[in-house]
Amino acid sequence: MRLDPNSAIPLYRQIYDSLRDAITSGRLAPGAALPATRVLAQELAVSRNTTAAALAQLRAEGYLEVRPRSGTRVSPLLPDTLLAAPRGRAGRPSAAVRHPALSRHGARLAALHPSTTSAPRPFRFGIPALDAFPWHLWARLTSRRLRHSAAALTGYDRATGFAPLREAIAGYVRAARGAVCASEQVIITSGAQQGLDLLARLLIDEGDQVWVENPGYPSARAAFAAVGARIVPIPLDAEGLDVRAGARRAPRARLVYTTPSRQYPVGVTMSAARRFELLRWAARADAWVVEDDYDSEFRYVSRPLACLQGLDESGRVLYVGTFSKTLFPGLRLGYVIVPPALAGAFATARAVADWHSPAVEQAVLADFIREGHFARHIRRMRVLYQTRRDALLAALEALAPNSLEVTDAGAGMQLLGWLPRGVSDRHVAELALAAGLDVAPLSAFAIGPLARGGLVLGYTEFAPAVLKAAVRRLGAVLERVRQ
Ligand SMILES: Cc1ncc(COP(=O)(O)O)c(C=O)c1O
Repeated sequence: MRLDPNSAIPLYRQIYDSLRDAITSGRLAPGAALPATRVLAQELAVSRNTTAAALAQLRAEGYLEVRPRSGTRVSPLLPDTLLAAPRGRAGRPSAAVRHPALSRHGARLAALHPSTTSAPRPFRFGIPALDAFPWHLWARLTSRRLRHSAAALTGYDRATGFAPLREAIAGYVRAARGAVCASEQVIITSGAQQGLDLLARLLIDEGDQVWVENPGYPSARAAFAAVGARIVPIPLDAEGLDVRAGARRAPRARLVYTTPSRQYPVGVTMSAARRFELLRWAARADAWVVEDDYDSEFRYVSRPLACLQGLDESGRVLYVGTFSKTLFPGLRLGYVIVPPALAGAFATARAVADWHSPAVEQAVLADFIREGHFARHIRRMRVLYQTRRDALLAALEALAPNSLEVTDAGAGMQLLGWLPRGVSDRHVAELALAAGLDVAPLSAFAIGPLARGGLVLGYTEFAPAVLKAAVRRLGAVLERVRQ
């Protein structure tokens, strides 16, 4: 056995590694005796503590055993044998296995096209500025929770979520969004997406009609399509979802999905009059309203309107929120504020799906909110995003006139640039991709053809200089299209 005293690997670990190697390769056979720690220490010119630590580790893992009067020996049955599964049978799987018959629900799911992740290049949208996140603080709060409350947070918790987080969220949406709710109505989910999936399963039967904004959020449509809903695309106008058009097309719809704070991806804010019109229609039609409030924290010019949930007097709004935009998407924490009579059904559905979200992350998030870090982080990001948005707007102004007409809703995490009529946004997006730019074509969010194409441009992740250079490249692409 050769030891390297200058290695970063501690000596006891080097001894452990070589003995384990010798045992698993068979050089030290099962039953072989090992020298006493004192003798081994002398042979290797290390302290006895060092050899004792190496042998203790091998014993703890089951490679060695100590028997009275026969000393330390290699175990007759090695742990590697106990942990390794027998080899599976080889052979060609049958046709039924290669092309498995899915359930009706399974077939609908498999036919969907979930959105994929893309590289962080301009103008990717929907991702917060992850380099500006207070990671050290998050790490400190996590380590504090693990040191002081590991026992309470590492077993099973309630399916509805960690109680202090539910309280912190209820307090936040009451104060910041005008919601009217108690913490018992807050169901913690794995991001907004799980909230949409659960509510679709709980409220929609196969064949039920669901209004969705067109263009709109494809992942919400996917959750409704998976349960067999008939998706009814509803157009938008300057005040948001066109309720009258919806009432004409599908008067008996069971549910309406909407993004009233800032329509996704066009950016219109639903007017106050339209909010009341939608709620009146829903009350008459006995329909549910799902309000997806994914990025309302980022407003740069005016105060937000109260959320639909807070205006609703008939208890038919389900408010979906997420921390993917305010904190980071990998956290996978979101919530649904449900009418009180639905809370029990949500808890059961969540338990059946996956019990609950990780409790340590929920507790850290609760601390982050309660100790004021959340509000502070949002304030900082609002300023940062406004600077980036202004830089993007200024750079876009320098583009050739009429090549891209930008609508600025003064809010959110992305802008929409309308292309001249007749120009295909998918074609522009392909050319932009070849130029190293990620621009999402508006038609990718639409059901059926759109009267006018557009480009969705994100800015939250990029410094002003990066945005400026990217707009120059985009300008060259748009020039090519015009010629
Ligand atoms: C309209 C809308 N709702 C919700 C979400 C958030 O989804 P999640 O919380 O599942 O990450 C997004 C993210 O892109 C979104 O665009």
